[in-house]
Amino acid sequence: MRRRARIAGLGRHLPERVVTNADLARLMDTSDAWIRARTGIRERRWVEGEVGASDLALPAAREALKAAGVRPTELDLIIFATLSPDITFPGSGCLLQAKLGCATVPALDVRNQCTGFLYGLAVADAFIRAGTMSRVLLVGAEVHSTGLDLSDRGRDVSVLFGDGAGAAVLVASEDGSGVLGTRLHADGSEHELLMIEAPASRHHPRIDHAMIDEGRHYPRMDGRGVFRRAVSRVPEVLREVLDAHGLAPADIDLLVPHQANRRINDAVARKLGIPEERVVQNIDRYGNTTAASIPIALSEAVEEGRLRSGDLLAMAAFGAGLTWAASLVRW
Ligand code: UT7
Repeated sequence: MRRRARIAGLGRHLPERVVTNADLARLMDTSDAWIRARTGIRERRWVEGEVGASDLALPAAREALKAAGVRPTELDLIIFATLSPDITFPGSGCLLQAKLGCATVPALDVRNQCTGFLYGLAVADAFIRAGTMSRVLLVGAEVHSTGLDLSDRGRDVSVLFGDGAGAAVLVASEDGSGVLGTRLHADGSEHELLMIEAPASRHHPRIDHAMIDEGRHYPRMDGRGVFRRAVSRVPEVLREVLDAHGLAPADIDLLVPHQANRRINDAVARKLGIPEERVVQNIDRYGNTTAASIPIALSEAVEEGRLRSGDLLAMAAFGAGLTWAASLVRW
């Protein structure tokens, strides 16, 4: 049978500190009722002290490696998806590699925001299919809390994001299980709908006091614009990848969507006729953890026994870039 990447182990790590909507309402002009009604979020996790994305990734990666029975030194590649790297460069993949003690395993950072995990999955699957690699660690990890505008000015974005990490170990499979296919898309002409502008190489200096005063180092989003595009692009890319494999929405046993807004995921499921018990939703507890949201949700779903051997798993995401993607996995 065809060689492809199979998910052999999963792990996740969430910081202990729980930040409720009521906690945020003490910092800015917002309310628990608004956040729950508009997004489905009740609470999120925030790091404490000096913790970077690779620090959150480390325990998640160790858990995934243990579950897969793979030692860090046996890895062929580390792929690290994040929009919140520990430092500007080098990438968090290199930092994680050192923490795992697996020098000189190659490490690659993926900068694709909410779709980072699925872009990373496509890269890992391609290396494995080509036969050049057999064991890849794929991590999504984010520390948002240190970069949010907690004043009233930033309330539309700051209530959404949380910190966390998820990891998967991918190994070569030839028994029909594994990644059936992935479809990736991007439209950079709309990058201004969701971005952090500074520090930036196109500015000289990369950041200055005026930019900080204007809050240009914080994320900025046209929420309605992103929402509207997400509810049309996500069903579209899911249909595209299903069609490519002669499958239909009714064949999906479990959908793990990116967790950006519960209303987006409800709308996607409604459009495709997927019953809610087949859709994983955990945004209520973690908020939007960007590249980490799919592996965290998948690791919880597997732990809860929501996937059986032979099931069809679908994953889909939409976010900054703009980028969107969907993957199908035979479990
Ligand atoms: O993962 C990356 C991709 N990101 C997304 O997919 C996010 C997509 N967008 C969304 O999820 C939603 O657009 C939001 C949750 C961000 C906002 O929900 P919305 O229903 O689109 O609200 P809105 O932006 O249209 O704002 C409605 C009102 C505004 O007040 P007025 O103009 O109606 O008086 C906002 O100023 O809600 C106000 N508002 C808030 N009120 C209380 C905005 N943020 C807040 C807040 N608390 N935190």
